[in-house]
Amino acid sequence: MNLFSFIKTRVSILDVVNEYTQLKKAGTYWKGNCPFHSEKTASFTVSPHKEIFYCFGCHVGGDVVSFIAQVEHCNQLEAAHHIAERYRIELPQELITTNEPTINEKKHYYDLCTVVAAWCHQQLTTSPGALHYLLKRGFTKDSMRLFTLGYFPGGHQRIKELATMARSHGFLVKDLIEAGIVQEGKTVLYSPFEERIMFPIKDHLGRFCGFGGRIFKQGDERPKYYNSRENPYFNKGALLFGIDQAKKSMQQKESAFLVEGYADCIAMVQHGYANTIATLGTACTPEHLKILARYTQKLYVVYDGDKAGKEAIIRLTSLCWQVCLELHVICLPPQEDPASFLSKENDLVPLIASAKDIFVFFIESLGEGFATKPLPEKLQLTRKLLGVINTVEDGITRDLLVQRASKIIDIPFASLSRELEKMQNSAKNAATAAHNQGALEKSSHTDPAERPKIPHNLLGEDQKLEKNLFFAILNNIDLLNNDNQELMIGYLPPAFSVILQKLYTLKTETPSLDFVQFFDSLDSYEKEFVSKILLEFEGSLEPGAFDQLLAQFQRKNWKSIVHKIKKQLDQAKRSGNVAEEQKILLQFLELKKKLL
Ligand code: UTP
Ligand code: MN
Repeated sequence: MNLFSFIKTRVSILDVVNEYTQLKKAGTYWKGNCPFHSEKTASFTVSPHKEIFYCFGCHVGGDVVSFIAQVEHCNQLEAAHHIAERYRIELPQELITTNEPTINEKKHYYDLCTVVAAWCHQQLTTSPGALHYLLKRGFTKDSMRLFTLGYFPGGHQRIKELATMARSHGFLVKDLIEAGIVQEGKTVLYSPFEERIMFPIKDHLGRFCGFGGRIFKQGDERPKYYNSRENPYFNKGALLFGIDQAKKSMQQKESAFLVEGYADCIAMVQHGYANTIATLGTACTPEHLKILARYTQKLYVVYDGDKAGKEAIIRLTSLCWQVCLELHVICLPPQEDPASFLSKENDLVPLIASAKDIFVFFIESLGEGFATKPLPEKLQLTRKLLGVINTVEDGITRDLLVQRASKIIDIPFASLSRELEKMQNSAKNAATAAHNQGALEKSSHTDPAERPKIPHNLLGEDQKLEKNLFFAILNNIDLLNNDNQELMIGYLPPAFSVILQKLYTLKTETPSLDFVQFFDSLDSYEKEFVSKILLEFEGSLEPGAFDQLLAQFQRKNWKSIVHKIKKQLDQAKRSGNVAEEQKILLQFLELKKKLL
């Protein structure tokens, strides 16, 4: 048992969350106003059984530890200790030591990542395909060296070579497994990084602490990136790709560029913008901004020109108030990311010159098409705008923004100012009321601006069945078994199958696996995703419903299932394995009878 699972056996998520917002029972869940954004109808949901929470308004989710980490703006480890102190939980000695790595353990981990990075970098010289891919994308050999880019070869023979190399540096296979570089299959070692371009990730001190691996081969249909899992040395919410090499330049140039992708970051640096860093595929956190504020006061956000990029910037707007950092937005043309833009235009100078203050960007984005919107939407948008302006501490800046907003949405300055004042007064009253109720003082630190919604439209209506199946399994992890795992992992959409693959691997390692252990093994994005799916469904499934869903799913995928069985049959025939052939045939007939 690790520190996090231990904490969860000692506190109830309901008790902890109740200190920040009042929860009411609603069916099998509990609901309340979200402590992360201001809202009038409760969309913040907690499941005490699964020990998770999710907000359907601002899409924050996770377990009790991630809840505290987010409300208290600290990392997971600090959050666990915070809970232990708050609820006077005595931590067993072994958990304290195993979770707070000693200096030696730390060094061991960083050293291991270093030799793995070097080995992968070395592999580039003998992997024409990977090298060609990087060159074709316009990365120079200097950039490859600067970022220690690499290639992780495929096949267990190569993993053996990696293990041998690691051993020559004093590392055991166990170390590779613990670091998440390789995993143990039934008979051989394998790695989720196999056949991927490696982007080693370093912390601000330049220590290698994790990896992002990108697919690059034609026909590779795995998720584009596989990133190292969170661990005590690798916290995506606080790490920034490229920061060690960008530090000096951020200070010298008194500014920094924040991009979304590893590839974007490298392209920027290669084009002379050494003061560039990237987040690791997760949203930018207040922690990230605080770190950047140590080096510079001006941050240019250069996100993809698409809708998702714009929305990410809008989300950032409500974080700015927490740090002393001026944020400016560089708008790329739609369909471009910094890498693709630079490969065509070569420099960002004109765009930098026309960068917009993030609040102005925010106001303009929300104000887009304002005039033609129906009245209720206009009111809602106006409140949202004022909510964000309200987060700005400086009074004059606030007035300037109100003035700007007034022009864009064509509502008199005086009306907006009056509304803003009302908002401030009611916030004050609410804070006093909360204080009088004995609520924790921190609740007044919640974000007064409504966080715009992250689109979670991963699946269309036509994929309800898949979602139901995924929900059923999450709700009862025993439902995923040897008989159905191939179907589930092979045929469900990638977002689901990646998580189910993890579940299945864990289940084979730990037959008594429970939900909380499984949940702990996920990274923060996956935790959010799983919480959302679980809490989206009111009530649980009837017994037997899973079998029905499964049958429906098999019917839906009937053609490709038949195709696959035929292939297996052919193979059995070719190898003259009559028993196997009969077995497959029997199974097929049974399935057919059941379904049709
Ligand atoms: P992008 O898709 O923009 O990646 O995702 P990129 O690095 O710019 O890649 P190119 O340009 O297609 O080569 C931005 C970041 O989101 C994370 C990675 O950190 C990536 O750099 N990400 C993306 C993931 O973690 N997983 C994914 O499947 C995709
Ligand atoms: Mn990109």
